Parts: sequence; structure tokens; C-alpha cells
Amino acid sequence: MSSLSVRSGTPLRGRVRVPGDKSISHRALLLGAIAEGESRVSGFLPAADCLATLRCLRGLGVKIETPSPIPSPYAGEGSQGVTLIVHGRGLHGLHPPQGPLDCGGSGTTMRLLSGILAGQPFRSVLTGNAQLSRRPMARVAIPLRQMGARVTDTDGHAPLLIEGGHLRGIDYTLPVASAQVKSAILLAGLYADGPTTVREPVPTRDHTERMLQAMGGGLRIADCGLRIEPGERLQALDIVVPGDFSSAAFLIVAATLVPGSEVTIAGVGVNPTRTGALEVLKAMGAHIEVKNEGDCGGEPVADLRVRAGELSAMEIGGAIIPRLIDELPLLALVATQARGMTVIRDAAELRVKETDRIATTVAELRKLGAQIEARPDGFVVRGPTPLRGAEVDSHGDHRLAMTLAVAGLLAEEETRVHDVECIADSFPGFVETLRRLGGKLKTQNRAC
Ligand code: S3P
Repeated sequence: MSSLSVRSGTPLRGRVRVPGDKSISHRALLLGAIAEGESRVSGFLPAADCLATLRCLRGLGVKIETPSPIPSPYAGEGSQGVTLIVHGRGLHGLHPPQGPLDCGGSGTTMRLLSGILAGQPFRSVLTGNAQLSRRPMARVAIPLRQMGARVTDTDGHAPLLIEGGHLRGIDYTLPVASAQVKSAILLAGLYADGPTTVREPVPTRDHTERMLQAMGGGLRIADCGLRIEPGERLQALDIVVPGDFSSAAFLIVAATLVPGSEVTIAGVGVNPTRTGALEVLKAMGAHIEVKNEGDCGGEPVADLRVRAGELSAMEIGGAIIPRLIDELPLLALVATQARGMTVIRDAAELRVKETDRIATTVAELRKLGAQIEARPDGFVVRGPTPLRGAEVDSHGDHRLAMTLAVAGLLAEEETRVHDVECIADSFPGFVETLRRLGGKLKTQNRAC
């Protein structure tokens, strides 16, 4: 296992890009696989999670051309993204897998692929690592069973056995706001005998809907829900994956909190279903300019220019939560540096992410001196609090690892973040990017 040594002291300056969007990279592979023709995907994120999707699809007979060798996210490679060609097999061309499909640690792989497999006339087994096997899968199994698929879970968790086939359209209201579950049902809806409607309690990221529409899938978006018509063939698409806002968020926060910093992050996806953290940071007083706005294959992109500044506390809750769910550990860190009491609520979903992010964030930020308390559905944080360097642990959670590294850029003395390989799950090149901006970070390998 390797650890990261981080020190404060230098402002961050410069212009960088972040790797491709994780959610869009998964969807480009999955939708490309069931489309007709060749989809060229550039800027694909070769992070561990997306590579799990790639391996599963190859296990289903999909030919995907990649650079050889594919960059290793564990070596910090691949931050510029890679170009892939997905040879789509059409809606009904997947092959029965020879063995279990290993989703690694990727919830997006397991949940979205379940939707596609529910419509296939063969059996598949989906497995994941120990971390993924602790995450809830009943939320996807229940609606797929209502559609007629036979889905056997293990006490609501992976492994999942899916015996797919003839599906019926359903009208389903999601009990929790989840883009992964919404997407799984929409994908299964492509195989149903009638239209399927999905209703969300609050809007979540809409990358699946945008890509389905761009590929000619019969999707209608109305106030009351999303309605997918079955049987429409998907046309292959050339997809340019924008930079991942969730990765950019670490740099935005670092540049906001490290005094004297001025950083531009170019080509970032700014789909409004993802950028809740931008709105919160601006409302807290951050200096962030959104420049050069454009469109990247149906997804909005922009350059973000960030200057350091002082922040005030605020309340974060309600409908904005799904739009910043992955940024909440990072926003808890931000709150330690903001004047006043920040309350984050309505975010109980954090408890079923890669880790229980309420418990792990509180435990680790406290080691650095933060005044933070856990609530069942969020945090209460008092600031501003000077942080002091300490030994902290990522618990194998990529977003927590990067949050703690950013904290180390602010803390007095050295901070050591243990178990940082997981950063490769979403942001290969994170350490190198921060170093290029002037951050003092050093990776150390430890014997296990
Ligand atoms: C994702 C949806 C979100 C998010 C995850 C990626 C996606 O999960 O937290 O990192 O790509 O659809 P939920 O759908 O479980 O909220």
C-alpha cells in the first residue's frame, strides 16, 4: 500500500486539465456496446472503475479497441484520457459471458450493466470486490424484477445472478434519488414490451438521458418523469468526454483555500446536474469564473478560473444534494475553513457510498483538528479552524483520499494520507497535477 506525504506552504498556480468524466466514460462504453456501428470515444477516463466496465463488456463479446498498452491509472498514467473504438453489437448482439463479470469496486458498472443484462436471454453473474459487495443492490434488483427479470441477490448485495429475457414496461418512482438506478431502469426499458416511465424524487445527473437521445433512443423527458420507448435502435456516436467536474472540484477547492493561489482548469464538464458544488462555493464567497462555455457532444463544458479567497459558512440540503453528492466530503473540508457553522443535511446516501462517508470523513478530518460532528444525514462543521498535520487514512475511498490530500495542503506540518492507490479509481494523475500547480506532495510505497 502506498501513502502520500503532503505539506503546505506554496500557492497553487497554473492552467491544467482534469481527466475525462467518469460517469460519461462508463455510459459511452455501455451505450456504445448496444448501439449499431462503431463509436469512437475520445478523452475516455482509463481509471480503475471505467476499466472494470470495459472488461465486463469484453466478457459479453464486445470488441473494444484500446491503445496498447492501456495506461495504468495506478502509475498515475492516463490523465489526458485515451481514445477507444467500441464496436457496437446492437441491442440483441451481446454474447453469454463465459464466467462471472467482475465489476471491481464500481457501483456504476454493476448497476447500469444490470439494466442491460435484465434484457438479455441468458444468465449472467455480476461480482465485485469487498467494498462493492457491501453496497446496496436491492434498489436495482427490485425494479428489474418488477419488469420480469429474475434477479437473485445476496441479502440485497452482490453477487447478483441475472436471468434476463422478456421484460414488461413499468411506471416506477425511485424511492431514493439515484442516477445509477434511474439509468439501469431506462436501459432495461429498451428491452421491454411497452414504454417504461421513471420518476425521480429530485433530479439526478442526466448523462444517460443525453446520450440515449443523441443515439436516437426513444426517450421523452416530461415534468412528471422520463419515458423510454422500447425497441428503438441506438446509432453509434462519436463521443468526446469532457473533464470530470468531480475531479476538478478538488483543484477548485485547493485553489480557493491555499492563500495566493490562482488556477485555471480547462475543458471541465459543467452539466448543471453535476455542478451543485460550484453554486455552493460561490455562495460561500469563492472566486470562480466560468469562461469559454461550449458544448462537448451534448454536454456543456467550460474553463474554470479560481482565485483564493475567504469563505462564509452556509446550510446545504434539499434538492441540491444529488447535484453535489460526490463532493460532500470535500465540502465538509471547505466548511472547516469557512467562517461560521455549516450544516449539511439530507445526505444519508453518503452512508452507502464507497465507504460510510459521513463516518469516515468525520473520523479523518477530526485527526487534523477539524470541528466536525456527524449527523444521521450529514455533518455540522464549525470554522475557520487551523488544521494540523497528522496521519490519516483513506479507508480505500478515492474521494476521501483526495479530500485529505487537499487538507494536507492547508495543514501545519506534514500530513500523511495512507492507502492512496484508490485515487486511481477516478483521478489518475491527481498527485502529478497538484505537483504541477506547485503543491508539495510525495508518494511513498510501504511494504504491506
Ligand atoms: C453516478 C451516480 C451517483 C454518484 C456516482 C456516479 C453515476 O451515484 O454518486 O459516483 O455515474 O450515475 P448514485 O446513483 O448511487 O447516487
